[in-house]
Amino acid sequence: MKNNYSEKFEKMHKAGELASKTLDMVGGFVKPGISTNKIDQLCYEFIRDNGGFSAPLFYRGFSKSLCTSLNHVVCHGIPSDRILDEGDILNIDVTAIVDGYHGDTSRMFSVGKISVKAKNLIDATYESLIKAIKILKPGVKLGDIGHEIQSYVENKGYSVVRDFCGHGVSNVFHEQPNILHYGKKNTGIELTPGMTFTIEPMINAGKYEVKVLNDGWTAVTKDKSLSAQFEHTIGINENGYEIFTESDKVSRKSPNN
Ligand code: MF3
Ligand code: CO
Ligand code: CO
Repeated sequence: MKNNYSEKFEKMHKAGELASKTLDMVGGFVKPGISTNKIDQLCYEFIRDNGGFSAPLFYRGFSKSLCTSLNHVVCHGIPSDRILDEGDILNIDVTAIVDGYHGDTSRMFSVGKISVKAKNLIDATYESLIKAIKILKPGVKLGDIGHEIQSYVENKGYSVVRDFCGHGVSNVFHEQPNILHYGKKNTGIELTPGMTFTIEPMINAGKYEVKVLNDGWTAVTKDKSLSAQFEHTIGINENGYEIFTESDKVSRKSPNN
């Protein structure tokens, strides 16, 4: 059925699909010995060669084409000559612009064999995102999303980062509304058909406080505990939701490589 947002959703699907395929592609390269700069270059070229552009490049002075957040880095890690080591956990956050629309998605990748602690944090973070997505439909409130994530991860002894949130996304990279990953049921605005936004919980093994390093971007946990994040771009339709950044390469049970 045609509606007033079907064209927008078609474009969001295209952008989301390219972002997701970029993560599928680079996953095979995330191994001990590769630098995060190389990951940045591979993704930049893949997105460009498939008719897109990397939204983070030149965004508010950001100098790379995606974010690579390692271990206790919460988000907005800047690719560098840092070489990945066995046991590292890495979030790669890709945002592709295709035909003016944005697909924004991130996943955790494990470098070689990782600790059970790290694996459990990654699994809980992914599960919290999927649980929040499953409740989405018109009439659900923003606070319900936050509550779903917060109650699930806090029950496992983890904490939800407060200083960064999900966001509306369409032909603008970051727009209203803010999507908080903590909150109370039945509070905040109601979801309506046609809305497009990200959910991107950042979950810490320790306390939720973060600080931003002197580079002005890299956010780390204050207590140096591990942090994990997954992100999807989602649209609300008449019946529920569509995930624009879904991948058939990611199994729901075991999200990381
Ligand atoms: N992709 C990030 C997000 O999920 C934003 C990165 S902005 C950058 O919203 F400039 F740091 F790249
Ligand atoms: Co985002
Ligand atoms: Co992102």
